Amino acid sequence: MSTEYHCHILPGIDDGAENAETSRRMAELMQQQGVTRLTATPHFYAHRERSVARFLEKRAEAYEKIADDLHFDEVLLGAEVAIEQGLSELKDIEQLAIGGTDLILLELPYREYQGWMFEEIYNISAEFGLTVILAHVHRYLMHYTAAQIELMLKTKAIFQINNEAFRMMSHGERHFAKRLMKEQYPIVFGSDAHNNDDRAPNWDLLQKRVSAEQIAASDAVLDEHRLR
Ligand SMILES: [Fe+2]
Repeated sequence: MSTEYHCHILPGIDDGAENAETSRRMAELMQQQGVTRLTATPHFYAHRERSVARFLEKRAEAYEKIADDLHFDEVLLGAEVAIEQGLSELKDIEQLAIGGTDLILLELPYREYQGWMFEEIYNISAEFGLTVILAHVHRYLMHYTAAQIELMLKTKAIFQINNEAFRMMSHGERHFAKRLMKEQYPIVFGSDAHNNDDRAPNWDLLQKRVSAEQIAASDAVLDEHRLR
């Protein structure tokens, strides 16, 4: 079993799957690679959206187009919410949590760390009782200083690692991902797949490079965070 925590499989809603056919092919490949539970997390950029409510409508419409073709044990709808200044005060922000859980996937900006980013993370978790998952934490190595990386790791969050971080070519990222596992940070895996080509699911790669126990620990996070 594998739980996908981060992917752009819904058709025509962001820079992920461009149509339902691509979504279907992505789903097929993920299933072949052992994914049994899937969280769909289209990008949410507060400055581009009219409202959270409108985004949720668009997400529902996109899901409707492929719902019958997804043969996973469970499909949950979420979002990859870009951290922007003032995000925690946006109306209905808490509704972007992963369906039926208290988990919300947040993406840091790809630039130098600034204090307000972590204030937004703190406010979102504290005000709404949500647990933050920080998306693809290994992708900030080139933007942050070593001290800023340590600050990020002090955040009370779950750290999401993309499967692709384990490619042989991504030395620094792989090393960082291994460090997080060794030091027993709370970790979940996701593909961040946008298609089946240059941003493919890579669940086969993860299974080759990471222990079954570590993948099971990632799976367990979802169940631990279900709303009762
Ligand atoms: Fe993503």
